[in-house]
Amino acid sequence: MVVTLILVVLGLLWSGVILWWLLVTTEGVYLGRRVVILLYDLYASRYERTKAYEPLYEARFLAWPIQQRLKPNRAPMVLDVATGTARLPRALMQNPGFMGSIIGIDLSRKMLHYGVGRVAEWMDCGRVYLMHLPAERLPFPDNTFDLVTCLEALEFMNRPYAAIAEMIRVTRPGGWLLVTNRGGSDARLMPGKTWPREKARQIYTEKFGLLEVEILPWQDLYDLVWARKPGDSLPTRARPLEEVWLCPRCHTARMIRNENGYVCASCQRSFPIAKDGVIEVV
Ligand SMILES: C[S@@+](CC[C@H](N)C(=O)[O-])C[C@H]1O[C@@H](n2cnc3c(N)ncnc32)[C@H](O)[C@@H]1O
Repeated sequence: MVVTLILVVLGLLWSGVILWWLLVTTEGVYLGRRVVILLYDLYASRYERTKAYEPLYEARFLAWPIQQRLKPNRAPMVLDVATGTARLPRALMQNPGFMGSIIGIDLSRKMLHYGVGRVAEWMDCGRVYLMHLPAERLPFPDNTFDLVTCLEALEFMNRPYAAIAEMIRVTRPGGWLLVTNRGGSDARLMPGKTWPREKARQIYTEKFGLLEVEILPWQDLYDLVWARKPGDSLPTRARPLEEVWLCPRCHTARMIRNENGYVCASCQRSFPIAKDGVIEVV
């Protein structure tokens, strides 16, 4: 009887540990994309509260190094993949030297909703767009952006290589990629989802053929990875969304802005702008 009770208690404890690992430590990534996004939807308001970064810290580690790399282009076109609550768009927009525009995409609708609160003033003037869509299929033409970023997200994606390949595709030749690589002791708790520094360097240089790969320590859990797309091209510069957005359905035509949102010039499929300003694509 006592032995049975001990076994039941141990079984319950073990199940609790496994559940915690699956849902909290690894944020659902071993359970598939839907679970990851569901958890972000549930967690969005808390995420927003816990990630109250100092503007000076954001400027020092994100905005200033970005401006340095993109120099002398002060009005670049930036894509922030898995933008969450718009941390990167805000860091850049708060910096007076940045004159560019940013498209932030994410699959968690709630994260984007809280993101609006951080960047509404720049959404109103058409310098920031937030779009609800997945990282693995980006509806933009090849070679579109001066910089593509993806912070603290690749390890939560089921197909990180597909997302990286898409990010590189839409970066212009000679443009920059800025992503994070999860490290620290936590990384060991996510087998198969994180890469040691040297493995990350090898992936970006050998598998993806990127140049000038530089991995810099950043926060407790993350390194920043800078890399450049081979080739050379003129800076693309900031443009309105409709000039770079390809219809996610027919993939051929550009989108046209109307009073409710955007409509495809060819297949006529329309994508509304929600009340909070987020563009609904999925
Ligand atoms: C830890 S948050 C990082 C958010 C933001 N980049 C930041 O630094 O604060 C991870 C984000 O990745 C998003 N995400 C995960 N998988 C995704 C996918 N396949 N496509 C688009 N977004 C995804 C989640 O919804 C979440 O907002």
